[in-house]
This record gives sequence, C-alpha cells and structure tokens, in this order.
Amino acid sequence: MFPRWANYLLPAIVLGAVGGAFYLPVAFGLGASPKTMAVGYAPTQPVPYSHALHAGKLGIDCRYCHNTVEKTAFAALPATQTCMNCHTNLKADSVNLKPIRDSWSTGKPVPWVKVHDVADYVFFNHSAHVNHGVGCVECHGRIDRMEVVSQQKPLSMGWCLECHRDPGPHLRPRDVKVTDMNWTPGADFDGEKLKKEYGIRDTAYMQSCYTCHR
Ligand code: HEC
Ligand code: HEC
Ligand code: HEC
Ligand code: HEC
Ligand code: HEC
Repeated sequence: MFPRWANYLLPAIVLGAVGGAFYLPVAFGLGASPKTMAVGYAPTQPVPYSHALHAGKLGIDCRYCHNTVEKTAFAALPATQTCMNCHTNLKADSVNLKPIRDSWSTGKPVPWVKVHDVADYVFFNHSAHVNHGVGCVECHGRIDRMEVVSQQKPLSMGWCLECHRDPGPHLRPRDVKVTDMNWTPGADFDGEKLKKEYGIRDTAYMQSCYTCHR
C-alpha cells in the first residue's frame, strides 16, 4: 500500500501530533500565566511562618504538616488545626499569629500563596518520588534553613529529565528519612543497587512524554 520509505515518516507524524496536542495548552499556558516560574521566587505569606524555626530549630518532621506527601500527588499544606495544636497556648497573643486565630474562629482557610507551580499540562506526583527514595531536599533545597520559602530549582522539563535519565545518584536508602536534609551519601553508596531495590523503571519509560504529559 505505502512505499517502504513511508515508515520513516511515522516518527514525524507522531511528533507532529504530540506537538500539535501541546501547542494550544502551551501557547495558552505561557500567555495567560501571571508569572513565569523562576528560581528565587519567594512570595510574601499572610503569616511570617518560618521553616528555619519549625522544621530546623524545633525539628518538626515535614510530614507532620505536609501529611499527604507520601500518599498523593499533591503535598497538602497544614490545616489551621495543626498550627493551633501548639499555638492555642503558645504565643497566643502574637500579632503575627492573628490570621491563624481568625481562620480558626471563622473556619476560613489561611490564604497561603503558592510558591512552586508547574504548568497544568505537566503531571507531577509527590508520592511517586518520595516512596522511591527521592528526598525533599533534591527538589526544594534547604527548606529547614529558610525564613521564607523560595523556589530553588528551575522545575523545567530539562531539569526533570536530567534526573529521569539517570536517577541512581539521586536516591537514598530506605533507612534514611526522605525528609532528612542533612544526609549525604557515604563511601559505600551504590545508586545502581538502590535503583533495583526500588524497582525504578527503565530510562525509556522515565523519558517518555506520557510519563509527564498525560
Ligand atoms: C509543635 C509545636 C508548633 C506547631 C505545630 C507550630 N508552631 Fe509555630 N511556633 C512554635 C514555637 C515553639 C515557636 C517559638 C515561640 C517563641 O519564640 O517563644 C513558634 C513560633 C511561631 C511564630 C512566631 C510568633 C512570634 O510572634 O514570635 C509564628 C508566626 C508561628 N509559629 C506560626 C506557626 C504556623 C503558621 C503554624 C502552622 C503551620 C505553626 N506555627 C505550628 C511551635 C509550633
Ligand atoms: C509546622 C508545619 C510545617 C512543617 C513542619 C513544614 N512545613 Fe512546609 N509549609 C508549611 C506552611 C504553613 C507552608 C505555606 C507557607 C510558606 O510557604 O511558608 C509551607 C510551605 C512549604 C513549601 C512551599 C509550598 C508551595 O507553595 O510551593 C514547601 C516546598 C515546603 N513547605 C516544604 C517543607 C519541607 C521540605 C519540610 C521539612 C523540612 C517542611 N515543609 C516542614 C508548614 C510546615
Ligand atoms: C522530584 C522533585 C520533588 C520532590 C522529591 C519533592 N517535591 Fe515538593 N514539589 C515539587 C514540584 C515540582 C512542586 C510543584 C507541583 C505542582 O505545581 O503541581 C512541588 C510542590 C510542593 C508543595 C506545594 C503543594 C503542591 O503539591 O503543589 C509542597 C508543600 C511540597 N512540594 C512539599 C514537599 C515535601 C515535604 C517533600 C518531601 C517529603 C517534597 N515536596 C518532595 C517537587 C518535588
Ligand atoms: C532527583 C530526581 C528526580 C527529579 C528531579 C524528578 N524526578 Fe520524577 N521520578 C524520579 C524517580 C526516581 C521516579 C520513580 C520512577 C519509578 O517509579 O520507576 C520518578 C517518577 C516520576 C513520575 C511517576 C511515573 C509513574 O508512572 O509512576 C512522574 C509523573 C514524574 N516522575 C514526573 C516528574 C516531573 C514532572 C519532574 C520535574 C518537575 C520530575 N519528575 C523530577 C526522579 C526524579
Ligand atoms: C520528566 C518529565 C517530562 C517528560 C518525560 C517530558 N516532559 Fe515535556 N515538560 C515537562 C515540564 C516540567 C515542562 C515545563 C513546565 C513549565 O515550564 O511550567 C515541560 C514542557 C513541555 C512543553 C512546553 C514547551 C517548553 O519547552 O516549555 C512541550 C511542548 C513538551 N514539554 C513536550 C514534551 C514531549 C514531546 C515529550 C516527550 C519527548 C516530553 N515533553 C517529555 C516535563 C516532562
């Protein structure tokens, strides 16, 4: 039916179709987005909440507040109740905590401003990373030292692919908490072994368009 050389057209047709499917959302997404994501983006929050104090100095585990990070795609922000567990009595008169007390009495959530935000046409999933030995610090940097959260990594396609091409060196053993920000690999570190242990899929799957655009 078709001459043999037509086979060579197939990849081009597939690419064209995929490109076409992305063209609209991309053009729209970039055009309509209020900000383009940038390393260093650090919006002012309604409450001067400090990770350096709570996660760093007090050593509260990230999952105490971001308690869905191991189970779902989205890492939930803490409910007002979580803050009130301590601040019902502690610093109960602080003006800095007034928005928390207001939220508690009205039942309206605190309007935290989103810091990290990949485009809607990208599929990202926290649990897929956290349960396969990728620590928070790999993508968010030293949150435990930040007074104000800022974006540390570009979160661009190139950045995602850099790790997806060769995730081994970015993994940590199961007995190290994914929330531990101080851990560094020792002399016995073996990323390839960890890849097998976690059953990390092959590089073709990791780089496939469908993995991140579905
Ligand atoms: C496990 C207990 C605990 C939890 C939970 C907690 N905090 Fe705190 N927070 C503290 C401690 C301890 C301090 C330091 C108090 C001091 O300086 O004497 C503090 C201080 C603060 C301060 C500074 C207050 C001031 O005027 O100096 C703010 C703002 C604050 N926390 C916000 C929050 C928010 C928002 C949440 C919820 C996301 C939260 N905290 C959850 C223990 C907690
Ligand atoms: C006591 C509660 C608490 C703890 C513990 C905590 N966080 Fe948070 N986190 C918050 C709150 C509240 C916000 C929203 C305000 C802000 O951005 O500072 C937030 C925001 C963030 C954001 C930015 C979210 C966005 O909008 O993009 C990241 C990333 C983050 N936390 C990571 C961590 C990591 C990693 C740890 C552990 C090292 C941690 N958090 C520990 C309460 C907490
Ligand atoms: C592989 C990279 C990666 C790892 C590992 C990672 N994050 Fe994230 N995080 C992201 C990206 C990308 C976003 C933006 C997601 C979006 O906009 O859909 C994000 C967003 C967030 C947010 C805002 C809410 C959301 O889901 O959009 C919080 C809170 C957060 N991360 C906390 C954490 C904590 C806590 C850990 C460790 C337990 C962690 N992250 C591990 C990349 C990562
Ligand atoms: C530091 C390394 C690293 C970075 C950075 C990273 N990933 Fe991953 N990603 C992984 C690992 C490891 C897995 C687990 C693979 C598996 O389950 O076989 C994974 C899995 C995924 C999955 C789940 C695939 C599935 O079908 O279960 C998606 C989706 C994904 N990553 C998207 C992203 C996106 C989007 C970004 C950039 C915003 C990103 N990743 C950045 C290492 C990384
Ligand atoms: C590991 C995750 C991942 C994989 C695999 C991936 N992408 Fe992306 N892609 C992203 C992220 C992240 C962005 C940028 C989102 C942003 O800037 O907000 C993006 C952006 C894009 C864009 C928008 C233009 C641009 O460069 O910003 C297009 C088009 C695109 N991807 C097509 C593809 C195609 C085609 C494939 C397969 C060959 C693919 N992607 C594979 C994560 C991925």
